Amino acid sequence: MTSSTKATASAPSNIAFIKYWGAVDLARAIPANPSISMTLEHCRSRTTVEHLGEEGEHEIVWRAEAGALETAPPSFADRVRGHLDFLRRYAGAEGRFRVATENNFPSAAGIASSASGFAALTLATVRALGLAPSEAELSALARASGSGSASRSVLGGFVEWPFDHEAKCHAQQLMPAEHWDLRDVVALVSSGPKRTSSLDGHKLASTSPYWAARQKALPLRLEAVRRAIRERDWNRLAGVVETEAIDLHCVAMSSNPPIFYWMPGTLAVLEAVREMRHDGVRATSTMDAGANVHVICPAEDEDEVVARLQKIPEVNGLLRDRVGSGPRDEDEHLF
Ligand code: PMV
Repeated sequence: MTSSTKATASAPSNIAFIKYWGAVDLARAIPANPSISMTLEHCRSRTTVEHLGEEGEHEIVWRAEAGALETAPPSFADRVRGHLDFLRRYAGAEGRFRVATENNFPSAAGIASSASGFAALTLATVRALGLAPSEAELSALARASGSGSASRSVLGGFVEWPFDHEAKCHAQQLMPAEHWDLRDVVALVSSGPKRTSSLDGHKLASTSPYWAARQKALPLRLEAVRRAIRERDWNRLAGVVETEAIDLHCVAMSSNPPIFYWMPGTLAVLEAVREMRHDGVRATSTMDAGANVHVICPAEDEDEVVARLQKIPEVNGLLRDRVGSGPRDEDEHLF
């Protein structure tokens, strides 16, 4: 790792097979339960961080969709500033930062843009400060952004973020990307920003009467997913992934007040995936805090999955992604 005042990194989003939903300490993103995810390859955030010697306000710009870099909205910029201050304290550094960031996929639509965004921000900032944290440290630093799932996006392949009360609570790789060529075809049924953030979802989770039942079911589910990944056991994985996602949304819909992420198109895709399975196509579905459906399948089944999803009138578009190898340094700066 080279010392530099300006650095650019990109980090991928990830899709959780077992979800983080509810925290014991939300400010520090200490989760109520372990989670397991697959790191993606193509859906990425790219972030440039410049460390400036002088004191003053951090400058945060972003590129919304394909436009020019512009001042980031206050809700997002404040979270970024908070994390920059944290990383500056961690490094024992002074000065301010200039940051630019962009996603190559629709933001805040159930594709974890906060995971990829805060993972890329963390990596670019430590690089700009000339630090060389281990993967575990980097994961804990990304988690401290408050976007817990960012702790999983700094690692490639299949990743578990165990339950841990400590400040160093971090994710670890279960298996590298080469272990199992799984694909994620994201069926876009809504590209608008979601109405309730995952942070608010975590706060409300334990108000659901189904919260306790979900917590009780998780240890067996986690073990089944770990084993399915280890043994590349598609049938075992597929069943658990779909049950788990429906469960999370049942908790969300029965929270007080309730959170509805699903749209009519969500149900249309879920039904289509069930039909695919009936016809022998290997596919399973999962949703994060949004309406879009991630259809997970082995590489050999991807074309058939795509062909069938394209026929659904409620589907506005597809993103085709795959298990990926994690964040990377980028040569091309955003400014
Ligand atoms: O990391 P957060 O606070 O954005 O929460 C992520 C929540 C889910 O995406 C729904 C689940 C997960 O584990 O990724």
